Amino acid sequence: MRLSVIGCGYLGAVHAAAMASIGHEVVGIDVDARKVEALSVGEAPFYEPGLGEILSEGIASGRLTFTTDFSAAKGAAVHFVAVGTPQQKDGYAADLTYVNAAVDALLPYLSPGDVVAGKSTVPVGTAAGLAPRIEAAGSTLVWNPEFLREGFAVQDTIDPDRLVVGVAADGVVAGDVLREVYAPAIAKGTPFIVTDLATAELVKVAANAFLATKISFINAMAEIAEVTGADVTQLADAIGHDVRIGRRFLGAGIGFGGGCLPKDIRAFSARAEELGRGESVAFLREVDEINLRRRDRAVQLVVEGLGGAVFEKKIAVLGAAFKPHSDDVRDSPALDVAVRLHGLGAKVVVTDPQAIDNARRLHPQLTYEAARDEAIRGADAIILVTEWDEYRRELAPEHASSLTDGRVIVDGRNGLDAAAWRAAGWRYAGMGWP
Ligand code: UDX
Repeated sequence: MRLSVIGCGYLGAVHAAAMASIGHEVVGIDVDARKVEALSVGEAPFYEPGLGEILSEGIASGRLTFTTDFSAAKGAAVHFVAVGTPQQKDGYAADLTYVNAAVDALLPYLSPGDVVAGKSTVPVGTAAGLAPRIEAAGSTLVWNPEFLREGFAVQDTIDPDRLVVGVAADGVVAGDVLREVYAPAIAKGTPFIVTDLATAELVKVAANAFLATKISFINAMAEIAEVTGADVTQLADAIGHDVRIGRRFLGAGIGFGGGCLPKDIRAFSARAEELGRGESVAFLREVDEINLRRRDRAVQLVVEGLGGAVFEKKIAVLGAAFKPHSDDVRDSPALDVAVRLHGLGAKVVVTDPQAIDNARRLHPQLTYEAARDEAIRGADAIILVTEWDEYRRELAPEHASSLTDGRVIVDGRNGLDAAAWRAAGWRYAGMGWP
């Protein structure tokens, strides 16, 4: 099928390349000429494992192209809208500027019978508001939320755990068109769930709200563990054996960040308020607050470890990305912890295998060091904030001891072997530990 994908960021670039990889003819359209240039020669404009390969393959096959020219959308049967919906600068609500602009730019090139498939995460009710403009062009709007995780985006797009398509009352045929788009995944047994537009929009925010709540739940237990002498990791293991609870997303630490969970729960709260149902999701404020408190706690552990003050102390911050396998520093708890320590007068040195360029752009005041060992050399304290393998698995305490006389390690992700670090003479502190 011929497809267009409007917006070539973390979501759209992966979607375009993944759709080409399953055999479609895809044009990716973005207003950012630099991004288009990079993508056109097979370069991913951000770090995402496997994306470079499918981009190159798609371009070499001739099925995948990128352009800034919206007229290239003409002739595609399905147009995916995959632009960002960031948090508004002066509030919690989602900023829909890019969604509206994408639809406006696309309208002149729609043909009767085309399907416009929204993928962006939007406040419930957005699709119903957009639909009349698209219908006026003889096309149909469906909502097809995306559940990909950064770092696994290629796999999640080609082999999702479910496909959700929201259609208007008369949009069943359009839903079937999406069934054709995703035929390979459906053939493998991926559930294909057809809903109305509002449900599809809500499925996405509800899923993210649930995941954020699960993380903040275990982080709340960490807070209790800290004042009772309990061990939150053992607690998570024990409750996680209950299949109704499940162990995944019960990783206590400095909490969630990234381009999705934080802004999605805030936008959900804002939308619920608008709908007069603010109280229904009032707990999401609490989820947000628990999450932000964990960053304070990590900073406090470093301060305590160094005897009450970090001024002029060298602190190696291991990680800047909001999670491993990503170079994304949007709302990164890791970077936030670094910034807070810097604010207390510490000489912070941040290292990360992928995210230094993005981090430097956002926080040029911090010192960055690409080589992990150089960041650690001579440090008074080390704090692990993003659980990359090079920090979590591959950093032996004896090796760290050879780089510095400092003996304070704070494990912001509870990923290190505490006993091994303590045995090597380090003062180890984790999150949610006695
Ligand atoms: C998330 C959703 O998982 C995905 O389905 C949705 O489409 C977009 O938002 P992503 O932002 O890529 O994906 O990251 P995710 O893997 O969900 O992690 C989010 C944050 O939670 C990270 O900062 C991670 O470190 C943190 N996290 C995750 C924890 O603190 N503890 C955990 O147990 C799991």
